[in-house]
Amino acid sequence: MGETKRIGILTSGGDCAGLNAAIRAVVHHAVGTYGWEVVGIGHATQGLMSRPIEVVSLTPAGVDRLLIQGGTILGTTNRGNPFAFPMADGTTKDRSADIAAGYHLLGLDALIGIGGDGSLAILHKLAKLGGMNFVGIPKTIDNDVGSTERSIGFDTAVNIATEAIDRLHFTAASHNRVMILEVMGRDAGHIALNSGIAGGAHIILLPEIPYDIEVVCEQVRKRQASGSNYSIAVISEAVCTVGGEVVTHQQQFGECRLGGIGQHLADEIGKRTGAETRVTVLGHVQRGGIPSPLDRVLASAFGVAAVDLAVSGQFDRVVTWQNRQVVSVPIEEIVSTYRTISPEDTLVKTARGLNICLGDRMG
Ligand code: F6P
Repeated sequence: MGETKRIGILTSGGDCAGLNAAIRAVVHHAVGTYGWEVVGIGHATQGLMSRPIEVVSLTPAGVDRLLIQGGTILGTTNRGNPFAFPMADGTTKDRSADIAAGYHLLGLDALIGIGGDGSLAILHKLAKLGGMNFVGIPKTIDNDVGSTERSIGFDTAVNIATEAIDRLHFTAASHNRVMILEVMGRDAGHIALNSGIAGGAHIILLPEIPYDIEVVCEQVRKRQASGSNYSIAVISEAVCTVGGEVVTHQQQFGECRLGGIGQHLADEIGKRTGAETRVTVLGHVQRGGIPSPLDRVLASAFGVAAVDLAVSGQFDRVVTWQNRQVVSVPIEEIVSTYRTISPEDTLVKTARGLNICLGDRMG
């Protein structure tokens, strides 16, 4: 009898709901169906570069309750590019060879990486250079990974944002206020557009459609004049004005982070319309908590399909969701495309048809 084959699995980039459900699916299918072994690697590629390697054995019994658990049991990071890894002495070093050595030391036959566009690009480069057999699974609340209609974590984030809007309607109406909800999503407005429509927002601002503050204020005034005593605005964190102005704020480690546009808009709307405004910044709440049933199903389907790819030796591919099917695509296709919202998107048309203000004069 031959030696048992071994899959390594890691999660990379920002966490989201559904990562553990994907890990669970990989373990059940690899061990239960094929008799392969699965090991989990801690903190993305950092686990493979550290010595001793950060690794844990995963068994079906051990992953049973992972379907509903938020975050990632393996830990993750969205910092520390392995090709220019920040060292303790303040310098940076290419650690890619250490990562490949870690993979080979563990005797892995395949590596499954769950990540967003940035992580998948890095893992692809590492795999090519280091002779690692790689299969990718897309995850991100931003839903901006190319070639897949859905990434793990997006549906849960939309549910959380929609629930926040549902709640804001009542308090907004009680106080005659304009309520601003700032949501995440980086340079893609999928969370704002989907939750805004689902929650009945009156204004939705997206990074893909530059906004004119006067158009936004006109919508507030129009609603005031028609007897609607409150308005709800859902704002994507990276929206910019027609002049290209974006609001960012500086955070730790000298990195320029997104955030703060909600307060900026609240001040402007208040000044220009006289309305009382309040801001809710949803932040990392969108990434936490129990995955929605849809994310659990997607994560399970992706996990099973990724194992099938690994076992059949189809590497450098990523599983995607297209027309209610799991379809695998070459990883080059994923890393060369970024999925934003087109002005012709059916949901943009839906929003305009509902007379939701998108901040431009097209509506
Ligand atoms: O990419 C996921 C995401 O949650 C973005 O929507 C957000 O801009 C960013 O990560 C926040 O990153 P961090 O966890 O480093 O604050």
